[in-house]
Amino acid sequence: MKKGLGEESPRIGMYRVKLYLLTSNKGKVGEIARIAVKYGVELEAVNAPKLEVQSNSLREIALYSAINYYISSGGMPVLTEDAGLFIRALNGFPGPYSSYVYRTLGVRGVLKLMDGVEDREAYFESAVAIVYDGLVIAETARVNGSISKEPRGEGGFGFDPIFIPQGFTRTFAEMSIDEKNSISHRAKAVAKALESLLNLLKV
Ligand code: IMP
Repeated sequence: MKKGLGEESPRIGMYRVKLYLLTSNKGKVGEIARIAVKYGVELEAVNAPKLEVQSNSLREIALYSAINYYISSGGMPVLTEDAGLFIRALNGFPGPYSSYVYRTLGVRGVLKLMDGVEDREAYFESAVAIVYDGLVIAETARVNGSISKEPRGEGGFGFDPIFIPQGFTRTFAEMSIDEKNSISHRAKAVAKALESLLNLLKV
């Protein structure tokens, strides 16, 4: 049996597909696991050290940590995801530095930077990388929206309480995981990446 392919994983053609999801973010695990189930892919979250390269490209960051984990683990199949919030009035800040800005300024700090700013347009971008049996896949996706005037909602994580997706009046934090997944950057990027992988494996 190939390394990392679990006995109990759902069969896809002649394959049993299992991926190790490299993250310590429980919010991400909940969202990504629901998408994986739809594709019959087994996921196991691993809280291993995620080596991140400093880059302005989320795709590059996700690819680097996936390839690094694949090599250092001796070929374990891996999925990594990197995301960021890009605010137009702040020239795309915090973008690839969203994690650091969330830990330092937080939601309140970002709202303070937006104090009196009329243009509230922003988008979330997600980059997903998969390395599986030597195959390397990277996909990205975005969701457009705007920054609210105050935090609202108890769900989700990170900047969810201040992000209102286009066409909605509620923030991501006021939505269920399934509703967020029906429009989110992460759900779209994960779906694209899993579709690419399954298509390649069926050949
Ligand atoms: P990373 O992808 O783990 O590097 O996280 C980037 C940061 O962006 C996270 O710490 C969150 O604060 C924020 N972020 C990324 N995706 C989302 C999302 O779907 N909702 C809210 N905040 C997010």
